Amino acid sequence: MSLIRKHLLGLEGVEKDELNHIIQTATSFKEVLSRPFPKVPTLRGKTIVNLFFEASTRTRFSFELAEKRLSADTLNFSVSASAVKKGESLRDTAQNIEAMKVDMVVIRHAAAGAPHFLANCIKGSVINAGDGCHEHPTQALLDMMTLLEKFGDLQGLRVAIIGDVLHSRVARSNVYGLTKMGAEVALCGPSPLIPIRADQWPVKIMNNVDDAIFWADVLMVLRIQMERQQANFFPSLREYHNYFGITVDRLNRARKTLTIMHPGPINRGIELDSELADSEHSLILDQVTNGVAVRMAVLYLLSGEK
Ligand code: CP
Repeated sequence: MSLIRKHLLGLEGVEKDELNHIIQTATSFKEVLSRPFPKVPTLRGKTIVNLFFEASTRTRFSFELAEKRLSADTLNFSVSASAVKKGESLRDTAQNIEAMKVDMVVIRHAAAGAPHFLANCIKGSVINAGDGCHEHPTQALLDMMTLLEKFGDLQGLRVAIIGDVLHSRVARSNVYGLTKMGAEVALCGPSPLIPIRADQWPVKIMNNVDDAIFWADVLMVLRIQMERQQANFFPSLREYHNYFGITVDRLNRARKTLTIMHPGPINRGIELDSELADSEHSLILDQVTNGVAVRMAVLYLLSGEK
């Protein structure tokens, strides 16, 4: 069964059946990745362009790897080596790529809505690899897959998303996805870093991190996005660490073992202690591993291949 939708622009409005279908398909591809020759001919003859207008390690590499594992032909675009440097617009870039008969475009862009704009300009499928502070759907899918592997079911699982929610596309996609899957979600951070309209989302809002730790089964810790801080949302990084950092001392005081997640890259020692990031309770590298399988599943399902 392929997906009914043509593009994956976000998880808002994606139903539980569809989320489960993508994650189950990713689980099948994970088995492929464990084979001695981890490659299948599924997307042979398809051409995919990776348009990354913003920096990325995990998402970019895992899309590239997923495309190679599916035998697709891939083109990698980076702003510094493209005509964007000469002032070419997103529409012109997209239409020129389209003229080369591309089947799918993976796009990361600093502007919220850039993938939606692109989807209206080209005939191929568009996958959002992160648009500004809006959505990062494949990250939330890999997060849910990782939680399902650990807990078996997300119904009633308590996930506290901690930190810079305001600038986090990961948080938005996870709120949409996790709540559809039956998890309970709390957002915790300094008030200026919680979106004004978050009280209209189906989540709890907490401003005290110790309360969130007491409540949660899982802590999804977010990066403080230094590059997007346009105002003084908190006095200093030291202050942030003291009040909202997830530390060994804090978890010891709570006498609780919690599962730790982080989408990366981590500001070690600011939002999360290194010892916790590297502990047996951390799923951070499992998230990265599952990223390849999830991206294989999304590419395959959107391609309409059987
Ligand atoms: N999680 C995530 O999007 O990481 P990158 O910015 O390295 O792709």
